[in-house]
Amino acid sequence: MGERVRLGGWVDRRRDLGGIVFIDLRDRAGIVQLAVGPGAPEGVRRTAAALASETVVEVEGEVSARPPNMKNPELATGEVEVHPGRLVVVGPAVTPAIPVTRAKGEELPAEELRLKYRHLDLRRPEMQANLALRHRLLQRARKTLSDLDFLEIETPILTKPTPEGARDYLVPSRVHPGEFYALPQSPQLYKQLLMVSGFDRYFQLARCFRDEDLRNDRQPEFTQIDLEASFVETEDVLGFVEAVLVALWDEAGHRIARPFSRILWRDAMERYGTDKPDLRYDLPIADWTAHAQRLHVPFFESALQDGARVRGLAVEGGGALTRKDVDALAEMAKRLGGSGLAWVKRQGDQISGSVAKHFTTETLGELGVGDGDAALFAAGPDRVTSPVLDRVRQEVIRRLAPPPKAAHAFCWVVDFPLFEPDPETGKPVFAHHPFTAPHPDDLQRLEAEPFECRALHYDAVYNGAELGSGSIRITDPALQRTVLARLGISPADAEARFGFLLNGLQAGAPPHGGFAIGFDRVVMLLAGAGSLRDVIAFPKTTAARALFEGAPAPANPADLAALHIAIER
Ligand code: AMO
Repeated sequence: MGERVRLGGWVDRRRDLGGIVFIDLRDRAGIVQLAVGPGAPEGVRRTAAALASETVVEVEGEVSARPPNMKNPELATGEVEVHPGRLVVVGPAVTPAIPVTRAKGEELPAEELRLKYRHLDLRRPEMQANLALRHRLLQRARKTLSDLDFLEIETPILTKPTPEGARDYLVPSRVHPGEFYALPQSPQLYKQLLMVSGFDRYFQLARCFRDEDLRNDRQPEFTQIDLEASFVETEDVLGFVEAVLVALWDEAGHRIARPFSRILWRDAMERYGTDKPDLRYDLPIADWTAHAQRLHVPFFESALQDGARVRGLAVEGGGALTRKDVDALAEMAKRLGGSGLAWVKRQGDQISGSVAKHFTTETLGELGVGDGDAALFAAGPDRVTSPVLDRVRQEVIRRLAPPPKAAHAFCWVVDFPLFEPDPETGKPVFAHHPFTAPHPDDLQRLEAEPFECRALHYDAVYNGAELGSGSIRITDPALQRTVLARLGISPADAEARFGFLLNGLQAGAPPHGGFAIGFDRVVMLLAGAGSLRDVIAFPKTTAARALFEGAPAPANPADLAALHIAIER
């Protein structure tokens, strides 16, 4: 107390109580109260009387204890106030376009406005906290990998296309008319070449660019914690990634046990209908085909005749689902392309629901459905029932809110398929990227049964969200050519697009593998934010627009001419 301080900050609120003016002064660290009473110098009183919100001031004054009835236990500085001897406006402010300070319970402005006036939105303590957390996580990731002897190496932004399943952002070359750079979808090819060059442990906090449909967990430009290592197997890579994730969660105050559990991709799809299962909850999908075959339920019959399966969820406590709940679930199932959902509930000896008359308490017992429980059934091919039951499972969990088994459920999903069928043509497209090594036991399947070929590809999943992906890579140039050919890429095309990688691989390539953690997603989850936009300083909207600076925007004709570009309308 009695200490003299110099402060600078923004006027958060001003309360004029007649004889005394209180000013909440805000900066990155929080809020401190200035009290300008009758004893303050005349100039200070005059300035304080006219201060508008969001004005920037500099203050010199003395810290003193607040009177006991004025203490504010909700503020870190709530016991003290500053009596300014000097108060100067150094940054006058027009009336803010959106409020920075909100009353308790007052809603945020619409997100469009928040993004348009981002400089004001970022002043909010929530956004300041999110970006401060982001900073700490970034430093911790860097330190953890650096301590594990990884070298941080930057790779180019103006580059050649690196396929990761999205469209490229292209940048025209002025000096080479008609030629384009691509912004990297990831540093994938460069990091593999760094392995060829002998940098056996690489990492980068890498900016990636993908022109794809955006959602709350996707941005056109985003950051990966990208790593690659040589002379490693899957186990080693998973170990490195676990070390980083445990450190990041620790930075946010959570202790996480290692190693994470593992689930085969095939089992994840069977038990949860998704490759990113939320393992905080039980409620696995069951195969009820054999039961269904005995029951002659019309809802199941046509699927069974087509050789498809009946799968479902035995929902403990599902008796609490209302008719409205089940109707909404069935509607959702239909929207996803399924034939809907059949359901039964059991209360004591009473069985109700859309297929109730086909069941007894015994037959329900065989499905694991007891008193107060429910069963939900989907029938059809797995490619339809898996996504349906995944969504239904998530929605049931949301509606019933059962206690989670754990707050943080990490798992590795391993042994993904190498290829997926293109939904339109049925031809193989890569499931991860074309540089992922096939599982050594499945090499002979590459040609005849490509969809049965597993890959040395693994994903890190947390509470139902994909945190990152990685794989052991192909190092044999001949095998790399075979895989590219299997993807329908002609030898000439392969040479033109990936010749630099193929050359690298034949120059003596060590076995290598790596991983990329979606850093923005990690920050979003650890900040408890609902969208990546809340943890990125200047994000894009879901329509890929930057509202603050107004991008993209038409280019001026002279610039276009220099780039040899004509716009067709
Ligand atoms: P992948 O394409 O799976 O793998 O990307 C890795 C992780 O990056 C995050 N991510 C995104 N985050 C925000 N917005 C996006 N548009 C977006 N797209 C992806 C996700 C994802 O799990 N080169 C490989 C990694 C490797 O094999 O080493 C790669 O990029 O969290």
